[in-house]
Amino acid sequence: MPSSRIVSQKPLRIGIAGLGTVGGGIVRILQKHGALIADRACRPIKIVAVSGRSRTKKRSINLTKYKWFNDPVAMAHDPDIDVIVEVIGGAGGVAKKLVETALANGKAVATANKALMAHHGYELAKLAEKHDTALMYEASVAGGIPIIKVLREGFAGNDIQAVFGILNGTCNYILTEMRSSGRDFKDVLKEAQAKGYAEANPAMDIEGTDTAHKICILGALAFGVKPDMAHLPVSGIGHLTAADMTHAEELGFKVKLLGIARRGNDGRIVQMVEPCLVATGSTIGAVDGVYNAVLTEGDFVGDNLLVGRGAGEGPTASAVVADLIDYALGFKTPVFGVTTPNMKKAKRMDPGEMVGHFYLHLSVKDKPGVLAEIAAIMRDHKISIEAVLQRGHNPGKPVSIVMMSHKARRADMEAATAEISNLASVAGKPCLMRIESF
Ligand code: NDP
Ligand code: HSE
Repeated sequence: MPSSRIVSQKPLRIGIAGLGTVGGGIVRILQKHGALIADRACRPIKIVAVSGRSRTKKRSINLTKYKWFNDPVAMAHDPDIDVIVEVIGGAGGVAKKLVETALANGKAVATANKALMAHHGYELAKLAEKHDTALMYEASVAGGIPIIKVLREGFAGNDIQAVFGILNGTCNYILTEMRSSGRDFKDVLKEAQAKGYAEANPAMDIEGTDTAHKICILGALAFGVKPDMAHLPVSGIGHLTAADMTHAEELGFKVKLLGIARRGNDGRIVQMVEPCLVATGSTIGAVDGVYNAVLTEGDFVGDNLLVGRGAGEGPTASAVVADLIDYALGFKTPVFGVTTPNMKKAKRMDPGEMVGHFYLHLSVKDKPGVLAEIAAIMRDHKISIEAVLQRGHNPGKPVSIVMMSHKARRADMEAATAEISNLASVAGKPCLMRIESF
């Protein structure tokens, strides 16, 4: 077995709260790669304590050598622990109390908790600064892709104009499987849960909230603004059907749930989450399954694309361990790239002002004149149509019509869609998606 370069140095002592998918993975990496990590960290990283909800639960990891805490917050008072790893989850509750207590006691924290960082990251960063300690969260966004480090350190010399991409592995896995095999949404979701990709409450994934947490964090890092979940419009993938995947494919696109943070020339920021159509042949169009893709635009570095597994035990635990090694080496950066007094309140742009091409899927009664009614509404809202697709002939019964618009303002497109949905000949809810052209 290779021996550590600096074995005599004091080990970094960690306490892990949460022993599920991510916590279990961290234990496994630290147990398997102890010597390798000690070499890279220039000192051993040693688990000294763990905490879970149930001590008697059967687990596939060996915890016999570690002190057990029923109460994770008590662990944050233990003088024998240097770093608390919080992998319990949840924006508030015990996870928040644990992180606050650890920071207040001068302990460093490594977390995978994007909900906590998006909702309370600013206050927690202030607390970390006050107690001169570190708050690390690489695992909270895009699993194995080191995007926090890239934005905060790798691109630190750039003015960042945009960061966006596929940020939820569960949704990308579901959309990919629905498209490739036409399988049922619920069936694929169950599979994503079994693989450890989904959140404890999978509605967080499906409804886009998890992507919103992540793009909120990335926006804060990219633009030096306070994370602000209150001004981040979110729509998820729950309303999409297999027919939407098929129509998108016929038009040369795939559907992807995107988190977007972009700054206009006037300095205003738009941040949002929405399913979009992306060209099948584009780089992001090729990112399928549990993979995530993060695109950035910096003024000197130019465009950049990072792809990697966005969820699951291995990639997420790998990111937490990287944070621990950084800390062991003595790296400490401002939590969001700039110190909290230098973080600004963002000037926001209304997403309605965004201009783009749109996809609109309608279920309409197959009778003469319907298309003319729809086209008239589009005309009234100054929207011109680039392509129309109608499949099947079913007199008097519903058929699908799919339209692609030329460039239009989102607000106009939304107003036209609302008006169209009120037509007697239109059945069900129209599906409107923007076409992201990068
Ligand atoms: P799991 O549900 O698999 O694990 C949660 C763990 O927390 C369990 O071990 C549970 O204990 C423990 N726990 C719950 N409540 C308490 C409590 N009051 N005291 C002590 N322990 C408690 O979640 P994940 O591992 O999937 O996720 C953990 C965090 O990582 C979340 O913030 C999630 O958003 C984030 N994350 C997850 C990713 C993934 O792919 N799964 C990827 C990126 C981030 P017990 O085992 O006894 O029930
Ligand atoms: N539920 C999340 C996802 C975990 O599927 O992407 C990774 O953050």
